[in-house]
Amino acid sequence: MEKKRQFFTTPIYYVNAKPHLGHAYTSIAADVATRFKQMDGHDTYFLTGTDEHGDKIVQAAQKEKTSPKAYADKISQLFKDLLPLLHIQNNHFIRTTDPDHIKVVEAILTKIHDSGDIYFSSYEGIYCFGCERFYQERELVDGKCPDHGVAPQAIKESNYFFKMSKYQDWLIDHIKTHPDFIRPDQYKNELLSFLKEPLEDLCISRPKSRLTWGITLPFDQEYVTYVWFDALVNYISALGYPDGALYQNFWPTSRHFVAKDIIKPHGIYWPIMLKAAGLDIYDGLNVHGFWNVKGSKMSKSIGNVTDPVEVTREFGPDPFRYFLMREMVFGLDANFTEDAIVSRINSDLANDLGNLFSRVLSMNHRYFNGRVAGADAALDQQYSLESDGAKAIDGFKEAMAICEFHKGLISIWTFISTMNKYIDTQEPWSLAKDESKNSALATVLYNLMEGLRVISCLIYPVMPATSLKMQKALCLDIPNKGFFGLDQIFPWSQIQKGTCLGAPEILFPRIDTKNQAEKTLVKKEKPFKPPLKEEIGLDDFLKIDLRAGIILSAERIQDANKLLKLMVDIGAQTRQVIAGIGKDYPPEDLVGKQVIVVANLKEAQIMGETSQGMILVGSHKKQMILTGFDKDLFPGNQVK
Ligand code: MSP
Repeated sequence: MEKKRQFFTTPIYYVNAKPHLGHAYTSIAADVATRFKQMDGHDTYFLTGTDEHGDKIVQAAQKEKTSPKAYADKISQLFKDLLPLLHIQNNHFIRTTDPDHIKVVEAILTKIHDSGDIYFSSYEGIYCFGCERFYQERELVDGKCPDHGVAPQAIKESNYFFKMSKYQDWLIDHIKTHPDFIRPDQYKNELLSFLKEPLEDLCISRPKSRLTWGITLPFDQEYVTYVWFDALVNYISALGYPDGALYQNFWPTSRHFVAKDIIKPHGIYWPIMLKAAGLDIYDGLNVHGFWNVKGSKMSKSIGNVTDPVEVTREFGPDPFRYFLMREMVFGLDANFTEDAIVSRINSDLANDLGNLFSRVLSMNHRYFNGRVAGADAALDQQYSLESDGAKAIDGFKEAMAICEFHKGLISIWTFISTMNKYIDTQEPWSLAKDESKNSALATVLYNLMEGLRVISCLIYPVMPATSLKMQKALCLDIPNKGFFGLDQIFPWSQIQKGTCLGAPEILFPRIDTKNQAEKTLVKKEKPFKPPLKEEIGLDDFLKIDLRAGIILSAERIQDANKLLKLMVDIGAQTRQVIAGIGKDYPPEDLVGKQVIVVANLKEAQIMGETSQGMILVGSHKKQMILTGFDKDLFPGNQVK
């Protein structure tokens, strides 16, 4: 049977400014959809790139006292460099200045001109130089361009026009008879209502006296083609139209990802261009809304243009991808704030998923020395999480197939929450105290590990690096392609009994907002420096055995609200440590945290509790600040 195929594209971005959050979103959404299709057994092709001709680029280049090509090279490279940083796996990066692209634009123009659908005429109208296009009076707001806020100028010139009006009825019919052509429905309705008015023919050229940075019309050397006739053609030139195998294989399966700002060119001009040139119409458009930042449209003057490189450096690519996919309902606008991303990372990632992962692996290390004990067949029915796992997969598949990414993630997180509640009700620590409950303990842990296996597969499209990290720790035999097919996730019970699992890792370090705020405070105030202690020799220092540890549980000690009782995994042993950090850290924030433990300190009694070691903290005034590592270590690793 022939393999299913899928071609996804992003818009090709203008190179008049460096990439921002909005560009990153579309590219990530298309990458997530591509990875999902790969899991669903498709051969995929994913295209992105840059749109490099036009007045705006010439003006931006002039400002920097450089040539349009040199300027385009520089900015295009920024878009290219962003892709690996965001874990985006594109197959090709097209630039409209590529010679192969230019040839295809010329061929399409010639074809449509020869068939009589491009004509020459003089035109008088109002033109916005910022948008590089003519406006209709009815499109203006208070007589001004809605995007640039300036009144367009009246100009008269002769130009080439594309007979779009001829295809209006055909297009309406195509949209109505192909229900998936434009997704979500609100944008289909928007286009259909626009098409109720007669379509104007499209001006497709600019005289060279006004603009030279473009592709010359093959049938008139005095003109260059206007923006859209150049840009839209990238989707087929990149596939090697007309004869390339990629074009033959992938064009019939093409879906374009765009935001609502460019639905007219994509939903009207492009299908009509394809129809007029006698080519197959693309399969569909996925249209999303706009990201605002702190409640306003991104703009240089407000100073809220968000740089995806900075966000990724601060929070990491997987959390950034998760936030964007979880927070925006595909099709609607969404709001970006630092508080919102921090809160998603702390609650959904660090608390819900991260804690679940480290708790389960830690318990397996503690109770079974890291070896999978396996479920007891007689008890399996009673403790099984299988049907919850199956529900998560179904919900995920259904939502992801129609770009409802937030719903796909909600389906996974419902399962994560079921698993966290399952731990609280089954209380593995209580089962561990009673030897006769050993099989029950093994069965509970086995189901939790299977649940983690399912989750590790499902998060792949959105968080590929975390998926791999989890799968390595669960010792799954990761396929060459780095992901498991949707049909490989079930059956349940794939983890082999006896497997020795990896150490519990911190998947997502918690972002300590309080400490961050106080870090600034520390900088401003003159720090209090206690006098240095008496010198010691290296021999004395080397007597201290410092180890990496991971906190498995934390609870308050009655009548001593500063003191916490911590269970800390230090590799070979689990230690009970009494630590005076209860004022600065609520116990629930500590589970899963990595700490430095003084492992050879003599046992001591504190408030009637045994303390088998000490954890290292920094102190500012009376505040305790935990020390840790900037990369994950295994419990028990030496600290030198
Ligand atoms: N060059 C044209 C597209 C030609 S495609 C054949 C263009 N370029 S653009 O640089 O302006 O990119 C527009 C696209 O960037 C939007 O459709 C969307 O994909 C993305 N975004 C730009 N700003 C955005 C937001 N504020 N929010 C979400 N995405 C937005 O138009």
